[in-house]
Amino acid sequence: RGSAERPAQLLAWYDRHRRRLPWRAPAGQRSDPYRVWLSEIMLQQTTVKAVGPYFEKFLARWPEVSALGSADLDDVLRMWAGLGYYSRARNLHACAVIVMRAHAGVFPDTEEGLRALPGIGPYTAAAIAAIAFDRLTMPVDGNIERVVSRLFAVEEALPQAKPQIQALAATLLGPSRAGDSAQALMDLGATICTPKKPACALCPLNENCAARERGDQDTFPRKAAK
Ligand code: ADE
Repeated sequence: RGSAERPAQLLAWYDRHRRRLPWRAPAGQRSDPYRVWLSEIMLQQTTVKAVGPYFEKFLARWPEVSALGSADLDDVLRMWAGLGYYSRARNLHACAVIVMRAHAGVFPDTEEGLRALPGIGPYTAAAIAAIAFDRLTMPVDGNIERVVSRLFAVEEALPQAKPQIQALAATLLGPSRAGDSAQALMDLGATICTPKKPACALCPLNENCAARERGDQDTFPRKAAK
């Protein structure tokens, strides 16, 4: 089975093993863009585990973007307390106001439109576009860089290798289900293709992994000498 099988192998694994996370819709259902956006902002600098309770709290208090956009900034900041990086909370509120006033309460459905909003950079725009709107784009964070650099045995060091890794990551997308493909790579990086001692025996892509083929999976990604 060749490397062209990777997108399908990844999705089949995700259907069986995906993590149940509070912001994920049940299998086969589209995720609410508001939930996807809220979770991705929280996940920018905070772990999945720490975000869970905050995501639930925010959603209970402000179930829709209109509610958050009408909230007092001080209330949003109070609710954010403990998550850190408070500029995220200010941008969150500013973004909700703009979506209400400039976009009639509807999130833009393209990476470009999303990037124009406060607090949304290239990674977050790609994540929301893929997960909420099934745009064929792959968000690449540090975890996905590790997975991809191993699958393709990328010899170029980070950060120079970023464009190459981004291009290779895009080859893991199938013709649809971009959001599931992205979240499959996130889960693979978190649970199997870990920084140390990756659990290659459990990996759905282990027969198509260039680093593993060389017995060299621990040494990727390459890092530039300091
Ligand atoms: N990290 C960033 N976005 C994520 C998501 N949607 N699921 C799991 N981990 C993530």
